[in-house]
Amino acid sequence: MRILSVTSEAFPLVKTGGLADVAGALPLALERQGIEVRTFLPGYPGVMAKLDGAGQSVHEFHSLLGARARILSAKVAGLDLLVLDAPELFDRPFGPYGGPDGDYDDNWRRFAAFAKAAAEVAAGAIPGFRPDLVHAHDWQAGLVPAYLRYYGIPTPSILTIHNLAFQGYFPAHVFSWLDLPPQAFALDGVEYYGGVGFLKAGLANATALTTVSPTYAEEIATPGGGMGLDGLIGTRAGALTGIVNGIDDRAWDPATDPLLAARFCADDVSGRAANRAAAEKAFHLTADDTPLFVVISRLTGQKGIDLLVEASDELVAQGARLAVLGTGDPTLEAAFLGLAADHPGRIGARIGYDEALAHVMQGGADAILIPSRFEPCGLTQLCGLRYGCIPVVSRVGGLADTVIDANIAAINAGVATGVQFQPVDAGGLRHGIRRALTLMRQPDTWAMIQRQAMAADVSWDRSARLYANLYASLLPEGSDA
Ligand code: ADP
Ligand code: GLC
Repeated sequence: MRILSVTSEAFPLVKTGGLADVAGALPLALERQGIEVRTFLPGYPGVMAKLDGAGQSVHEFHSLLGARARILSAKVAGLDLLVLDAPELFDRPFGPYGGPDGDYDDNWRRFAAFAKAAAEVAAGAIPGFRPDLVHAHDWQAGLVPAYLRYYGIPTPSILTIHNLAFQGYFPAHVFSWLDLPPQAFALDGVEYYGGVGFLKAGLANATALTTVSPTYAEEIATPGGGMGLDGLIGTRAGALTGIVNGIDDRAWDPATDPLLAARFCADDVSGRAANRAAAEKAFHLTADDTPLFVVISRLTGQKGIDLLVEASDELVAQGARLAVLGTGDPTLEAAFLGLAADHPGRIGARIGYDEALAHVMQGGADAILIPSRFEPCGLTQLCGLRYGCIPVVSRVGGLADTVIDANIAAINAGVATGVQFQPVDAGGLRHGIRRALTLMRQPDTWAMIQRQAMAADVSWDRSARLYANLYASLLPEGSDA
């Protein structure tokens, strides 16, 4: 079976969030199931640099929505890549979607061209590679199913929703530039509230829909979680499933991780002490044996980070320490820098993105706090489980599906792996922190939770099997792919 994965990010080539981790790791796990995946990525400068001139041109577009473009084929970091080299669209000095002044104002054209090119690959534009199925990710690839439909390309498609909050909504006038027939500007096509909805177009036209956890699949079909799209999602309920993400268990393996200060495993966690010391030093925290909580996150409303700003008084009052690593909303960044100044030695903050420090924090802290208001899946709790850094999470989305709350029944049954709290407000979070601290004061129970967390299966293998089954179910009857 051959799959074309269409994604605007893939680790280690380009990453702004968990989508990159998923798009970078899932193809490798699928390969272990005997499935061939090619990953289609925009040719941002960082991606072109990683090709290092080794990309082989396999298709040229004289005009792709007015831009000159070609597709390069290359293998980087184990991924079979197809890269859309279109300098006019993607050769920009800032991030994949925008810079300091906000999003690029031609993102509709950049990602429509990307989706149209993907549809042409599906139609057989590249010699020797005609995919059996297209797997599109998020709004940036949302138009792919629409191009397939309106160009009469019969290849089945899946749209995976990683985050319904990002919908790719643009004014109506862009429609005439998309090279779609007039009938596509309709309720069952790309039209959305009088404009063009890229994610909506995918939701309406993909053969199947997935999201990254079963609970989020339920939440997005409700008015509370549907962000305006619950009506449409409800009509497609039969086509929607939730498959939880895994993590790359080779990059995230405490027994071999080269980014750690010391390595460890479930049977011997003594190496955690050196990571704890390294984290204390990095965040200028007092070196003592009081509980250490960490946050590794985009600092945004989605992640409930403002709730932690409010609840941090509880944490300090209870004698615990907090280390925050993240970037995002400038007000939240400033709030944590302020808290660090107010509580020297007890709260530390680093504004930035630091992969290596994230590993050390997971390897040394007692618990990772994830108070998200909504969370399609979440990956940092999975890393936390694997590294014995116990997740303290709000009971939403993928957090609810991947962390087993340490209530009495779960403790007695020997299955608890973390702490869940609700309601998702500062009071709920304070309660979650207090419960975690109470458990830490019972060293045997805490050690048991840590062992169980480290034994949880957070690998991609199980989920890759679920994707493989889904792919197979969508191929035409009698297909031998
Ligand atoms: P989202 O994609 O919504 O931001 P996820 O939990 O799915 O959330 O994925 C976030 C990814 O980014 C994880 O791999 C996490 O470790 C990483 N990450 C987030 N912020 C930072 C940071 N400041 N430094 C290092 N890694 C980070
Ligand atoms: C999104 C979601 C996150 C999920 C990630 C990968 O960024 O916010 O919950 O883990 O995609 O699927």
